[in-house]
Amino acid sequence: MSNLTISSQEYDAFRAFLEEACGIVLGENKHYLVSSRLGRLMKEFDSTSIGDLIAKMKRQPRSGLRERVIDAMTTNETLWFRDNHPYALLADFVLPEIAKTRPPKLKIWSAACSSGQEPYSISMIAQEYLKKRPGSLKDNIQITATDISPTMLSHAKEALYDSLALSRGLSPERKQMFFTQEGDQWRVNENIRRRVTFKELNLMNSYAPLGKFDIIFCRNVLIYFSAELKRDILNRMAQALVPGGYLFLGSTETLASYCDEFDTVRHQGGIVYQVKDKATAGTANKVNFQMRR
Ligand SMILES: C[S@@+](CC[C@H](N)C(=O)[O-])C[C@H]1O[C@@H](n2cnc3c(N)ncnc32)[C@H](O)[C@@H]1O
Repeated sequence: MSNLTISSQEYDAFRAFLEEACGIVLGENKHYLVSSRLGRLMKEFDSTSIGDLIAKMKRQPRSGLRERVIDAMTTNETLWFRDNHPYALLADFVLPEIAKTRPPKLKIWSAACSSGQEPYSISMIAQEYLKKRPGSLKDNIQITATDISPTMLSHAKEALYDSLALSRGLSPERKQMFFTQEGDQWRVNENIRRRVTFKELNLMNSYAPLGKFDIIFCRNVLIYFSAELKRDILNRMAQALVPGGYLFLGSTETLASYCDEFDTVRHQGGIVYQVKDKATAGTANKVNFQMRR
């Protein structure tokens, strides 16, 4: 249904619905995106126009249509060890720093996990770290991976990837080490999967049920949101971190003026944000701290 005509009133109503439902701000001229992503769903629900689809979502709140529309409108692009820097920083700086405090358990949140590459990459880093520095950290690392898209979450839970997905960001050594071939696909091994728990979560909703985290990965999702929502999410993530906890953003995302609860830590070309430990504020000097190897 890519030749679907969308009137300006319909487009405005759809944009307002989407932003209100999941925070995603559609640009002025993304009509093609709306028609290409919703075409199949509109056929299935016998809708001939976006106006009719919006009316059906309102009339049939229990049909699952609303959730399916949101799911279809999300952009799920992801890859293994995306941008490399955050993962090098996790392995070479963040985990060793946390290990110094000898925590009985380490909690990590992958806050927009898409099809699972991010939380599984984190678990692979943990596995490599524990092998390289046995005893420095307890093998009690829990990764909570959340996303709004049930389709992506079920793909992620299956942990089964085709050769194209595998070719994106994964070295032959890691493929050999962490995957088992099943037909023409590869499944993430149990020793990597066991750390990861998947849950559906809209980042607009409360994070309190998830508890507190030592590290949050919130990468390549804030770009879809308004400045106001970015501010709200970043401030609530600061609350969801233990004092001194770490936040990773995407390589094109910054804290900018959204939140002053964090210090910036730079290491080997990568950046991580560390939530200020109010109890020790004034004694730490971590702003733009340049790490040396
Ligand atoms: C581009 S992917 C990023 C995946 C991964 N973090 C990475 O950096 O490769 C963005 C993800 O954000 C999810 N998303 C979009 N809006 C969301 C919301 N309001 N709450 C939770 N997840 C959302 C999408 O479903 C999608 O899987």
